[in-house]
Amino acid sequence: MTTSSKGLEGVVATQSSISSIIDDQLTYVGYKIDDLAENSSFEEVVYLLWNLKLPNKSELDAFKSELVDNMTLPEAVIDHLRSYDLSTVHPMAALRTAISLLGLYDEEADIMEADANKRKALRIQAQIATIVTAFSRIRQGKDPVQPKKGLSYAANFLYMLNGKDPEDIEEEAVNKALVLHADHELNASTFTARVCVATLSDIYSGVTAAIGALKGPLHGGANEQVMKMLTEIGEEDNAIPYIKEKLDNKEKIMGMGHRVYRNGDPRAKYLKEMSRQLTELTGQPKWYNMSVKIEDYIKEHKGLPANVDFYSASVYHSLGIDHDLFTPLFAVSRVSGWIAHILEQYDNNRLIRPRAEYIGPKKPEYVAIENR
Ligand code: COA
Repeated sequence: MTTSSKGLEGVVATQSSISSIIDDQLTYVGYKIDDLAENSSFEEVVYLLWNLKLPNKSELDAFKSELVDNMTLPEAVIDHLRSYDLSTVHPMAALRTAISLLGLYDEEADIMEADANKRKALRIQAQIATIVTAFSRIRQGKDPVQPKKGLSYAANFLYMLNGKDPEDIEEEAVNKALVLHADHELNASTFTARVCVATLSDIYSGVTAAIGALKGPLHGGANEQVMKMLTEIGEEDNAIPYIKEKLDNKEKIMGMGHRVYRNGDPRAKYLKEMSRQLTELTGQPKWYNMSVKIEDYIKEHKGLPANVDFYSASVYHSLGIDHDLFTPLFAVSRVSGWIAHILEQYDNNRLIRPRAEYIGPKKPEYVAIENR
């Protein structure tokens, strides 16, 4: 057997029509991320990822309504969220469990026909926003808020989170963040989802597994860690000494670096600009200024670019979103990509089962237990 590639770097593990990263350019179904970030609603992007074509106006309107119509959670899931001490539970752990639980209340959970899978896809995409926002409300001692017809997906997220209609700029920021996070080729959580369903396991299992992978700080968990770092730094002048010390201690700077991009993450510039605008608007430009200093320093000294998580931290903070909800919000978007990949995997499935290069002991002599 040939040697292994640590972290599967450089390994092309599947063919896909959903998204691509070529020469540092990201596309969804061939459309440039810039065009989508500047023009599209999140619902339009989800439709694109699932149908491999952009919707026309009536298709989009129908899809938007279907999403809102499916946002309400089974009462049992709400009861479950109320049943444990949310002050000690990380919302990503709660989300992982709640999605799995949702499967128990879906009569079609184990029906593998394509139409049933599409209906489940819609329900999961709709309900994941409700789970995250209900979690947040319940732990604040408040009741979950029902979704509002006529609001966009992004606006409904904020509405269910805060119990009031969002400002336009808030809705735009969340919409853009959702568009930018929706899919990203064979990232760790998407690969996890594909590995899971390639056994012909169900869609809820695939999404649950993916949430587990996204939770880690080297993947989706990085955005929360970025805000933790910025909070620890506190003031602009502390930024560089803090970063120098981290680097001297061989610690990683969260939100920096990427396995695939070498010259920069094409999503980062949109989040950077949103961060500039929103931190200005909230009278806290220090978060943006500090981030720019860190980005420039890491670029100069390590040659590493900022990734999607770096500026999303100060964007979400400026929107008043709790720091531990940053990664769940990433999941609310990325579930659209997971589902697209799960459906694509089902369409042309083969079990994913790579090999390991064995580096353990070579044929040691077996010693009877009484002689060891
Ligand atoms: N801060 C400091 N150094 C970093 C770094 C970071 N964020 N990311 C990579 N490096 C350095 C490593 O220390 C290593 O240096 P060395 O060769 O001197 O040991 C080198 O760059 C390669 O790093 P490695 O972890 O092997 O790269 P990778 O391709 O496996 O990892 C990430 C990619 C994204 C996991 C990595 O860049 C990282 O941990 N970033 C921080 C977490 C993050 O933001 N994750 C979200 C990704 S969207």
